[in-house]
Amino acid sequence: MEGLDIENKQQPNSLNLRPGLEGVPVAQSSICDIDGEKGDLKYRGYSISELAEKSSFLETTFLLIWGELPTSKQLKEFESQIQMHRRLSFRVRDMMKCFPESGHPMDALQSSAASLGLFYSRRAIDDPKYIYDAVVRLIAKIPTMVAAFQLIRKGQDPIQPRDDLPYSANFLYMLTEKEPDPIAARVLDRCLILHAEHSLNASTFSARVTASTLTDPYAVIASAVGTLAGPLHGGANEDVIKMLEKIKSPDRASSFLDQAIKNKEKIMGFGHREYKVKDPRANLLQSFAEELFARFGKDEMYDVAQAVEQAATPKLGPKGIYPNVDFYSGLVYRKLGIPKDLFTPIFAISRVSGWLAHWREQLSANRIYRPTQIYTGKHNRTWEPLEERSSITKN
Ligand code: SDX
Repeated sequence: MEGLDIENKQQPNSLNLRPGLEGVPVAQSSICDIDGEKGDLKYRGYSISELAEKSSFLETTFLLIWGELPTSKQLKEFESQIQMHRRLSFRVRDMMKCFPESGHPMDALQSSAASLGLFYSRRAIDDPKYIYDAVVRLIAKIPTMVAAFQLIRKGQDPIQPRDDLPYSANFLYMLTEKEPDPIAARVLDRCLILHAEHSLNASTFSARVTASTLTDPYAVIASAVGTLAGPLHGGANEDVIKMLEKIKSPDRASSFLDQAIKNKEKIMGFGHREYKVKDPRANLLQSFAEELFARFGKDEMYDVAQAVEQAATPKLGPKGIYPNVDFYSGLVYRKLGIPKDLFTPIFAISRVSGWLAHWREQLSANRIYRPTQIYTGKHNRTWEPLEERSSITKN
């Protein structure tokens, strides 16, 4: 990106400067455990492959936020509370109708999530009922916001949630106005499980920093949504599809990759600060894509993606750069008929559970985040009258 130092390559030095806080533990957490060398990911001690196979997104959300799998009574209560709170106030819907259709759905989501703070302004973060109610509202309403903006930007009125549909099926219904195929709804629910939590990634760190000032949970989630939107983070899943569409066919993958590496460009959907092997979520997402292809027909972009991975492995693998969660997720969403600029909002729908788990954990042992800096500016300057100033070059 022109003019942006997107790869600030300052290295740790004797002053202990750690750009991007790489390798610096800033919190103790019991929510998620990543083994980047082995490519292993666990939520509260449970492997994501087992949760993706046997759990539901709401059950996994309960586990992440409260630390234990819910009893049948707790899960039923949680599911019915979520179902009761899916609707949006007409004020939020009317506000969304003022958003420009050309706006990115992540900006629409960040604005709408933040607006909830206007309706629930009481801040009682030491009250477990307040915390439970905020968790229910956010988990319940975020999908409705994403679906509402999709219909509104097409010039239509958003449709109300269907109380008879479970979480992921209802989201697809609100998005497409059609009851989804049960297999499609189950695949989406499993994708939401996979994207729910990932320790101190940038957006979760944002959530914790915002939470540490004791502001309301709606501001915490709005901060995190804004952070997730960036192409180096959750925004990569949309850029992967744009890259595959540019490559067009498998036989062009290798030359595209050589050119990108020569130009020192980042291959979207590759690389990770933690994983030095293929992201375990990428493997699971590939299997979900293949399950959908078996049922609904192949997507030729999948062959392009596999050709990119095949061509990249010998070139980038030795540097520990492999596909991450964003490389195959877009191919699943494409097959579900979801527009590519909604891929990151779907990541956000899922990650709200991880952000809320970290919000609670931060509050349980809070210390406001306030790192320090190494000052590299000028010293002891005096003010110069206008006529004595020489023009400075703007960088
Ligand atoms: C997510 O943190 C999380 O947990 C995030 C996430 C989650 O669940 O929350 O997993 C979700 O954000 C996944 C990442 C999605 N982003 C992308 O796919 C964008 C492309 N990836 C890169 O921008 C990068 O890999 C990052 C941002 C993901 C990680 O960056 P780091 O750890 O800061 O690594 P780096 O930029 O310092 O790169 C180290 C080296 C460099 O080469 P040298 O200059 O040392 O020779 O690896 C190279 C980089 O150029 N490199 C890549 C590359 N990623 C790193 N080279 C080509 N293509 C890439 N994708």
